[in-house]
This record gives sequence, structure tokens and C-alpha cells, in this order.
Amino acid sequence: MREDGAERDALGARRIADGVSAAPDGAPRWALATAETLLALRVTESGVVVQDYWGPRLPFWDDIPLAGFVTDRTAQDTSYTLATEVYPVWGGLRFGAYTAQARFADGVRDLDLRFLSARVEPAGRRLTLTLGDAVYPLRIELRYQLAPASSGGLLAASATWVHTAEADAPDGEGAHAIVIERAYAPAWSLPPAGARREIVTLAGHWAGETRIQRAPLTPGERALESRKGITSAEAQPWFAVLEGEVASGAHEGAWPLVYFGALAWSGNWQLRLTTNITGATRITGGLSDDDFAWTLLPGERFTTPEIVVGCARGDLNDARHALHRYTRGEVLPTPQRDAPLPVLYNSWEATFFDVTEVGQRALAERAAAMGIELFVVDDGWFSRRDDDSAGLGDWTPDTRAFPHGLRPLADYTRELGMRFGLWVEPEMVNPDSDLYRAHPEWVYHFPTRPRSLARRQLVLNLARDDVGAYLLDRLDTLVRENDIAFLKWDMNRPITEPGWPDQEQSGTPRGAERAREVWVRHVWGVYAVMDELRRRHPDLLIESCASGGGRADLGILRRTDQIWTSDNTHPLARLRVQEGFSLPFPPRVMVNWVTDTPHERGLNEIPLRFRFHVAMLGTLGVGGDLARWSAGDLAGARAYVAQYKRLRSLIQGGACDWLRSLDAHDHAVVAFTAPDASEAAVFAFRPADPFGEPPPPIRLRRLEPEAHYQAWLIHPDLPASDAGTEAPLGALVGAPLSGAALMRYGLTAPLPRGLFASCLIHLRRLAR
Ligand code: DGJ
Repeated sequence: MREDGAERDALGARRIADGVSAAPDGAPRWALATAETLLALRVTESGVVVQDYWGPRLPFWDDIPLAGFVTDRTAQDTSYTLATEVYPVWGGLRFGAYTAQARFADGVRDLDLRFLSARVEPAGRRLTLTLGDAVYPLRIELRYQLAPASSGGLLAASATWVHTAEADAPDGEGAHAIVIERAYAPAWSLPPAGARREIVTLAGHWAGETRIQRAPLTPGERALESRKGITSAEAQPWFAVLEGEVASGAHEGAWPLVYFGALAWSGNWQLRLTTNITGATRITGGLSDDDFAWTLLPGERFTTPEIVVGCARGDLNDARHALHRYTRGEVLPTPQRDAPLPVLYNSWEATFFDVTEVGQRALAERAAAMGIELFVVDDGWFSRRDDDSAGLGDWTPDTRAFPHGLRPLADYTRELGMRFGLWVEPEMVNPDSDLYRAHPEWVYHFPTRPRSLARRQLVLNLARDDVGAYLLDRLDTLVRENDIAFLKWDMNRPITEPGWPDQEQSGTPRGAERAREVWVRHVWGVYAVMDELRRRHPDLLIESCASGGGRADLGILRRTDQIWTSDNTHPLARLRVQEGFSLPFPPRVMVNWVTDTPHERGLNEIPLRFRFHVAMLGTLGVGGDLARWSAGDLAGARAYVAQYKRLRSLIQGGACDWLRSLDAHDHAVVAFTAPDASEAAVFAFRPADPFGEPPPPIRLRRLEPEAHYQAWLIHPDLPASDAGTEAPLGALVGAPLSGAALMRYGLTAPLPRGLFASCLIHLRRLAR
């Protein structure tokens, strides 16, 4: 059928523009669109804001289905329970998952929010919808931010609570206070399921974090949380929902669609996926409401952490890819995110608490000879730190181990051509420390209860300004005096007995309630010290650590450059932990060390090659006792470090696909592909080979179908070549193949026979 000009114009007007836009007919509807996805919101006649659609991009406004089940405020109760409200409150005819709960000064506990206004920011990438309570001076601003396409086109949303009464209202007694009891980010809805859906989450424990869990998404609630004061090793504030049919295997299923998201918060959190009998799912989450309350006084504002979500056509690798681009483009601190992260050495497994200047110098010499770029002295360097029973909090070098302070060692590492880094655990104090003796009131505690020790330490109350000021001063002095380039910021125990007696006993009517703000104020306190430290030392790198990967989230990644993935450095454990970790977090964030063999967690000898290949899947580090490494291993390590540097931009900045998983196969395959498809690095691992069967061809992704690629096998014994040269890194494997062949038939990985086999293949696009 021919379209005449008028029809074409009308069609054009109904086309949804990229970015944030309001409906062309003036109706209170908005679309947030990228090339791939679309979120459509609408205000109903009764003033409720609902999500009409979230999913793959639709072209026209008329294509957007109107969410059902919302009529008006006199409707049946199911109206609101089933509605796809974007900020469902606790109140009224609602019995489903909710995002907000509050208590007003007169005792009323029911929220009733209606739409007030909308604002589209000039750049067309932000939409703010303001809702207001029907009776009380409370406004809630829902902010949706659309990331640029280069950052995966993801959406970030948060809610800001505003007490709209005049700031100088007579409120000395908290007469107008609004107590927030739950403050989640905005909610997301998946429509009733036409196809099978599966939920993917990450679970673990200390030394066994981020292991992938998959289950059918069935009616009921899947609730994830942390109550430890940090993100936790047990659960990750991340989810994916796969939709479609499984074509083959557990990991290569051709899922047509994947929804995914993560919370940007480093304290207590909750994430709920609530599914009803139709298969419709509501995704809610944000700050945990466990022991939480926040007092909002006239004129005050309170903003929730963001939830970041995306929807991609494809499978888990596509979700992984989109979140990686977002984190690299929008989250990680600048300007560091645009520079390669250094290959590091960390002393922990080599020396534990036995840290001396002499011993560290010897390690540094061997590390430098290996090509290491950053030398990090871990725990054990400060006064009276002979074990974990003393010293935390004081942060002065141990004069027995460092008679002239840290500076001589720091200078020496620089003379060797490396940067100098140091471990700290700022939020902690040992009872046996000068700090605790001077300020026993600085830790969380309830006066009448014991102060529970964990790892023989207590947690400083970072809700207190004086504690934050002390830590900032200590860290700033350390960094300045020693010209420190890198801090590993550890956090080794949860918060317990979260009392803040100065508040609770302040005598003000709201004091006890205010003490329950510590769950948020602690995190803000950590963020504030980190932010100010970075402001004062713009070149500083920070690694986030909490007994391994216990504080890994998009909130901490706004002010840290990388994360210590797990205290478990056994390569087989690592392959599983790293596969899960790499779902939310890009490879450059994931720090891996090559440690000694036989490993303390397993008796097998594991070849250096296997250990290096596993560690090369992220930011490479070495953590073994180099004093005990043989000359052969030291030379081998030098070669691997050089190989890593050659491939670093690909690994730290390319698209990462886990193409085979040890969860489903006897081998694992991970590929990194350059954004312009000009090259790829493919790592393959097979811990054991009892049947002697070659692994099936691996279908690569993201190559240019019409271009030809040559594969080179990077030999373990190749002499170390210097970074930066253009020469191929290895030996030719077969003849050039087209990108199409490599993606449709696949690459046969030349894995050697035997235990702990691994290989690294470098593919380069040939000139046309
Ligand atoms: C826990 C960390 O995860 C380790 O890497 C190490 O830094 C120790 N703490 C030191 O106490």
C-alpha cells in the first residue's frame, strides 16, 4: 500500500524519538527510548503513575500497550495490587510488593501519592516525575536517567523524598517529622509471561562469592538481601530474568530476551522479584528496611540509592555486556576509568602479618623483574600488628619493621619502576589500639550489651562526623607522606549492635529513631571519606575489599577502581566465582592474583600457565611468595605478564563473553572482543580430561562476518615480548577463517591433553 505525504507525516509524528519524550498528543505519557529498549510511563485518570511498557524498542506511540487493571480509587482491591505502579506505596487498596512506607507526626501510617508534575531535562535524557501526598507536606520525585547508547542505553532510577513544609517551621520537637520506614528506588514490571522465564542470581559466602544460581521464575517472591552493613558475600544486589526457550545446554540457550538490573548501594539492601499467578513480575528494591528509619524534617530531602536496569535481546552475555559498558562509561571514577589498570603484586599470601621492610624489598625486586607495575603491601605494616588482635585504627608504621617509616620502601619500589600501594581497613578498630583506648565511644554499641568482636575488631561509627574527620586526616597524611598511588580499602566484619548512644541518649524526642539512620549514614560516611580523599589525590587508585568480594556493587564503584574478587585464589574456585562476578562487573574491576602451588585450598600442583590464564581474565595480579618461586617460574611469569600487557586493552576494555561454563561442561571458554571487532582473545580451560574428547567448536561472537581472522596460539614458553609491539604474539593456528565461520561453526580450541589444560588464542582481523 502506498503512503501519501499526509499519512507519512502522521506516522512520523507518532514515532517514538530516541531519548526522553512526552506523548505528541499532550496526554501525560512519556517514553524513554534507546535503539534497543523502551520504557513507557503514564498517569492514569486517578493520578497514579504506571508503567505501560518496558521491553524491546517499539517504533510508535500507538504500539505501546496500556497497562490494565488500573481504574480509579473506588475500584476493587486487585486494581492496585495488580497495577504496574512505578512507586507503589504501603497504603490504600494495595497488597503487593511496595516501594514506600512512612509514618506521619500525627500517627497516620498510610501513604497516598498522586501525580503532580513532570520535567524532561533539556538534553532529553532525564525524566523527573513528582508525586505528592494528598494531605501531608510530602513530595516524592522519581528520577529516571537514560544512559547514552555507548553506555548500553541502561536506565537508572531513584526516588527523592522531600518534606515540603517551610524549613523554619516550629519543629524543635519534631512535631512535623515524617519518618520514612521504607525507601526503595522506583519499581519495574514484567508483563504476564507468555514464555518460560528463568531468574538468575548470585550467591556465595566468604571465599566462595558470586556463584550463579538459576531457577524458574514461578509465582511467589524471590527476596535477596544483606543485613551486614555491607553488600555481602552471600548475595549480590543484581538479577537477570531470561525469557524464552532453552535451545541447548544451560548456558548457551538462545533466550530471546533478558531483563537485568543492579542496585548502586554498599550497605544493607533488599531486592524482591514478586511474581503472581499470571507470571507478571514486579521488581522492587533499594535500601533495606530492616532496623531502618529516617526522620525527615521540614525542608529536608532524602534520596534513595539508584537501581540500574536494562533489557536486551539475547542471553546472559548480552546482559553482561550492557552492564559492563554502563559501568565503564557511567560509573567508574574518572579519569582513571579511561586508563589501563596496572598489573599488581600483593604481599598478603606471601607474608601474612610478617611484614618487614627487608622482606618487602626482596619481594619488590622480584616483582619488578617480572614486569609488575604496582607493588601493594597488605595487612601487617602498622604498629603492633603481629596478628589480627591489635593495631587497627592507629595507622602508623610499625617501628620495628619500618624503622624509618614507609617512605624508604615506597621510594625503593618507585626506583624499581613500580607504583606503591598500601592496605588499610579504615572503618575498623581493635580494642587493643591507642585509638580505642582514647575513644571507646567511637564504635557502634549499645551501652548495656557486650560489644561483639569479630576477627577481634569493632566497627567505627562513621555516622559520626568526628570519626570521618579522623579517618580522612589519617589516610590523607599516609597518602601524602608516602606518595601512595593505591589503597586497598578492606572491611572485614559486619556491623552488629548498631547503637549510637550519643543520639539515643541525646534527650531529644527523635534521638532513638535517628540512631536507626546508621545503616545509611555509615555508607555515606565511607563514601564521603573516599570522595574527599580522591578529590585531594586525583591520581589515587582505590581497591574495594571486604574479606574478598563482600563490598562489590555499583555504589562503591563510583569511588573505587577495582574490587578484590575473593580470598579464594584456587584457580578452579576462581573460574566459578569469576564467571558470576563478571555478570555485574566488567573485567577491569575484577582483580585476580596468581598464587602459590600446591595451593593451600587444594593439594594439586597447578601449572603456572593455568594459574596465569585464570588470573588474566580480569585485572592481573600476582600474590605468591616470590621468594620461593623457581627461576623457571619467575621467567614464565615475566612472559605471561608481558602477554597480558599486550592484550590488556582487549581484556580491560573489550566485550567479555563466557561462552562455556564449568557449570555445564568439562571446560570453560571466555572471549574478549575489541569494540571494533578487529581482534579477540579467547581463553579455554579444561581441568581434567578423562575421556580424551576434544572440546566441541566454540561459537565466537561480535566478529565481523565478512572479514577474515587469523588465530595465533599464545605459547606458554614464548619469550616475553615487550608491550606495544605490533608483532603477532604466538604461533599460527590453521588458516584464516571468516568471522561468519567463527561465529556460526566455531573455533576449535587447541587444548592440550592432561590435567589443568588451558590455552590462549589471539585472533586478529586481516587487512581486506
Ligand atoms: C581480607 C582480604 O580479603 C585479604 O586479601 C587480606 O587483605 C586480609 N583481609 C588482610 O587482613
